Amino acid sequence: MKANALLTKKLLPEAMEYLKKHIRYEVAGTDRYPTKKEIISGIKDKQGLVSLLVDQIDKEVINAAPHLKVIANCAVGYNNIDVFCATSKGIYVTNTPGVLTDTTADLTWALLLSVARKIPQADRFTRQKKYKNWELDLFLGKDLEGKQLGIIGMGRIGKAVALRARPFKLKTVYSDPKKLTPEEEEKYEARYLPLENLLKTSDIITIHAALTKETHHLISRKNIHLLKKQAFLVNVSRGPVVEEKALAEALERGDLWGAGLDVYEKEPEIEERLLSLDNVVLLPHIGSASYETRAQMSMMAAKNLVCVLSGKKPLNPVNKI
Ligand code: GLV
Repeated sequence: MKANALLTKKLLPEAMEYLKKHIRYEVAGTDRYPTKKEIISGIKDKQGLVSLLVDQIDKEVINAAPHLKVIANCAVGYNNIDVFCATSKGIYVTNTPGVLTDTTADLTWALLLSVARKIPQADRFTRQKKYKNWELDLFLGKDLEGKQLGIIGMGRIGKAVALRARPFKLKTVYSDPKKLTPEEEEKYEARYLPLENLLKTSDIITIHAALTKETHHLISRKNIHLLKKQAFLVNVSRGPVVEEKALAEALERGDLWGAGLDVYEKEPEIEERLLSLDNVVLLPHIGSASYETRAQMSMMAAKNLVCVLSGKKPLNPVNKI
């Protein structure tokens, strides 16, 4: 008999077709996300789980699944899974690296340019039929040339963001626990700076760090105070990397030029004050949301699941079993 898996939600159609051919599955949430209770009750007899970044796959869930062999997360980040607990029970955890790098770097730049040139604000203004006259000082933004871009987290996405900075003639610096080799620094035209120096000297900061105990509130209230007046920040990693309340306060005080946020501390909740600030561009966590990329992520998660359930090693494990 084919192995049986639980999907917290449906993947994109091509991945569902693939799964249909290889395994049996149940979908826990059809019109909405399943509750933790529903995941726990669905996973009891399953050998595999496909989860999304919003599903908290903690000890309680893992302990409820005595037959589980694999948790295939359909995301590159996997801070929603207790990997330590899964590993201790011999359960593979997999993610979807690589396929979303360029899509997320593109979105980072879309946000960066939106904040620099006030595009959403200008769009709202135009739709509201407020465009009566061309004005010399209407929606004055910021040029990028010659400014310093500080990239926090120089992994795959950070590097792709750095490559896109070259035609804009920005000076790029980065901070990461792992320094690049001199050859890589040359390739990405990026110079290493310790975090504090990066924060003090950059005009634009983009964040691509994975969420871990070490990066929780990496951009803390204290660190936000270090930012240059009129600097701006773009976060496309995970919300809790930034102390959201402190950021909202700095923006309210006018200490910063603005912010572009795709992720939030308590998603989908958003710090109320951010919603009313005009100099903030807010997106609903769509960093990797192109059809092509989400389809590839879906296929990768499905293949990781099927690999393990057919007795093979997964293609993209994040833990060693
Ligand atoms: C998106 O945030 C992901 O981790 O894939």
